[in-house]
Amino acid sequence: MSNIEESTGITRRGALCALSLVTVGIFSSPEAATAATGVKILRSGKVRVALKSNPVLKKVGGVVRIDDVQGRSIALVRTSAKAYVAVNLLCTHQGGELVQTGNQWQCQTHQATFTLAGKNLVGPASTALKRLPVKATASRVTIG
Ligand code: FES
Repeated sequence: MSNIEESTGITRRGALCALSLVTVGIFSSPEAATAATGVKILRSGKVRVALKSNPVLKKVGGVVRIDDVQGRSIALVRTSAKAYVAVNLLCTHQGGELVQTGNQWQCQTHQATFTLAGKNLVGPASTALKRLPVKATASRVTIG
């Protein structure tokens, strides 16, 4: 049997290693939230997001990430046909970085999890993500 494996250039060990790498890649890499486009920082410090530039927000549950807003990251989530929630992507435990994993945010420091809209699901964090004021029109959302 090893002759067959060697003649194809694939050993059993090599195949298992390759399979494990693919499996690790599928199940451990966090899904990155879509980076928002059409973002404008207003003089007031508010953040304006053009909906036309962010088609992912057409669907309820759609989320975009806005990084480097005065040193912080924000997520904008469509929560219903006309409602949006903006949350500060700073873990409420000790300020760890949050990344999207499926339909949750997960802290990279101690693994607390939050819903996309910011509700705390798993500790050690015990409070929801900080929400930011949101005003929405048919064409844009203003955060702050
Ligand atoms: S800093 Fe996020 S869980 Fe500790």
